Amino acid sequence: MNNCPNTQNERGPSDSRRDFFKLAIGTLASLSGIVLGIPFLSSLIHSIKPKETGWNKVAEIAALTVNKPRNIKFAMLSQDAYLHSETVRSVWAIKHPGGEVTVFSPVCTHLGCHFSWNEEAGRFECPCHGSVFSITGKVLGGPAPRPLDTLPHKVENGVLSVRWEEFKSGLPEKIRV
Ligand code: FES
Repeated sequence: MNNCPNTQNERGPSDSRRDFFKLAIGTLASLSGIVLGIPFLSSLIHSIKPKETGWNKVAEIAALTVNKPRNIKFAMLSQDAYLHSETVRSVWAIKHPGGEVTVFSPVCTHLGCHFSWNEEAGRFECPCHGSVFSITGKVLGGPAPRPLDTLPHKVENGVLSVRWEEFKSGLPEKIRV
């Protein structure tokens, strides 16, 4: 049994050294955590909005039939800081009699459902709230506030490439998200 009440409060030089090393190690650990965490935080911030890598080859022009809208699926490459990923997207492509092509986003301009082509009726129809569009994208009926959204595209060596873009739904103007 220790009868001296001051023994526990007495601190020698070795205790001070131990405290100093504990503080130094704690500080170093915190600093290295911050330094190592910067790339991680940066990747999280970038992952909120992945960057598109540009043009996506979607079809041979020769494979499209004039005035027959075709739904084309493709794998889109995205870059998210250090990660590359693929997302499956689709577009509607229409080859016109003169050979030029129109590409529509598959997203309805009303509230974002995917519409389809009704071959018999010769029009695009949205299953959600009944919007109807002509082959040129014009609104023929329903609540859609604007025509179908066209997407940037190009034809090189007979191959159609598309740049994926998204737009705000429910507005009369075409505004990119
Ligand atoms: Fe297409 Fe509403 S989302 S009509």
